[in-house]
Amino acid sequence: MQHLNSTLEMVRRCHVFGNSRAELNSKEPDWLDGPTANFWHRLPRPIIGLSPMDGITDAAFREIIARHGCPDVIFTEFTHVHELTEGHPRAFDALCYTELQRPIVAQLYGNSPERFYQAAHIVCALGFDGIDINMGCPSKTVASAGSGAGLIRTPELALSILASTRQGILDWAAGQALSAAGIPQSVVDCIHFSNAKWGRPDISRRIIPVSVKTRLGYDTIMMQEWGACLSQGNPDLITVHGRTLTQLYRGEANWEAIAQVCPILHARGILVLGNGDIRSPRDAVRRIRESGVDGILIGRAAWGNPWIFQHTAQIRQAVIQETDLRDVQGLPSLTDRFRLMVEHAQWFEHMFGQKRFFCMRKHLTRYCTGFPSAASLRASMNRVSSAKDMHYLLDDVLKSHSAHFDDAAFFHPNQLGGCGTNRAGMTPTHS
Ligand SMILES: Cc1cc2nc3c(=O)[nH]c(=O)nc-3n(C[C@H](O)[C@H](O)[C@H](O)COP(=O)(O)O)c2cc1C
Repeated sequence: MQHLNSTLEMVRRCHVFGNSRAELNSKEPDWLDGPTANFWHRLPRPIIGLSPMDGITDAAFREIIARHGCPDVIFTEFTHVHELTEGHPRAFDALCYTELQRPIVAQLYGNSPERFYQAAHIVCALGFDGIDINMGCPSKTVASAGSGAGLIRTPELALSILASTRQGILDWAAGQALSAAGIPQSVVDCIHFSNAKWGRPDISRRIIPVSVKTRLGYDTIMMQEWGACLSQGNPDLITVHGRTLTQLYRGEANWEAIAQVCPILHARGILVLGNGDIRSPRDAVRRIRESGVDGILIGRAAWGNPWIFQHTAQIRQAVIQETDLRDVQGLPSLTDRFRLMVEHAQWFEHMFGQKRFFCMRKHLTRYCTGFPSAASLRASMNRVSSAKDMHYLLDDVLKSHSAHFDDAAFFHPNQLGGCGTNRAGMTPTHS
């Protein structure tokens, strides 16, 4: 019961910034239409998306990415199917989103096909555009339990999870009640509460796509066999991170191995996204050209730099027209960067509450690089405990270092939202 109450409280807080789609977009996105809603096939190519990152791509960061970048698709952090099907607040936290974040894919992990079946119902009922199954997490706790990249060693279980997830989606779309899928009433209440609070009272019953994100192999590269095996489960798309499980994040991502699996998956009608070590728009163009993938996911390079997705259209144009990437601008002015930091912190507070502000610090320190006094500002950022504190701190920095900065004008927290590409042109305001 305590779980349920805190989940509902979290959902309530999230609604502070919940915007109706009508406010954000006058035209409904067409992937929301119809009983079969495979948005993947309607995205422009090459696809450029935000990779899932546990503890990083939370709802507040995704909101900032959606407002100040322009990725084609956004993934949530991974969410454990047990936690989701038991109504754990952490799971519902991870699956908060606003309409601006569409198309948005919920990533799930676990090792139980039955739980994936139920979790698929919940994700559908929350209105997501797709489900991604994590078969790539190398962390000991996840992989040794047979989840994440651990599934590379149990291909039958991996296929069974794919089939259960798909069946869950089909049964939901066919009208099955959540209770008939064995989902407890307390969890059904969380779903309804979340949808109501986020302005999504009517979730249509549609068949959403299933994708997989994985690695090249467990301890050796075996992507061609693993890809062929996964293709038997008919995922709509597979994202391949160019490393094995045992490599963790060491060495360079192997894009040749990603390229080699593309023809195998394409022959079976499966889209392929490549992932790993894309640090700049130029890297993106080169990797897409050389590997034959349908697109890429960018992870760490977006952390502290949501503006990287402002180059999505240029990357696409360079790939399609086989030209060089032109006019790639660096980071925005320092004042604009500071404005975005405050805006990010405000979204975080409104979505998750000030008590958890310490989780925001890892983002703040990432934003503080490449200018005089960045190191000392990072140290200060590790101590701030509210968006307001942070705003005053940044304002002091701008004033005291005005000689170094071209644009050190005073900025006020209520003047936020003006930097970069703001898709909605909206400013978060305190309710
Ligand atoms: C802090 C952190 C958390 C991550 N969490 C997830 C996750 O929840 N799900 C997932 O599929 N991959 C996760 N990843 C892997 C990234 O999505 C991505 O595959 C990897 O970082 C390589 O891409 P990059 O070089 O663009 O960062 C995580 C990576 C990092 C650094």
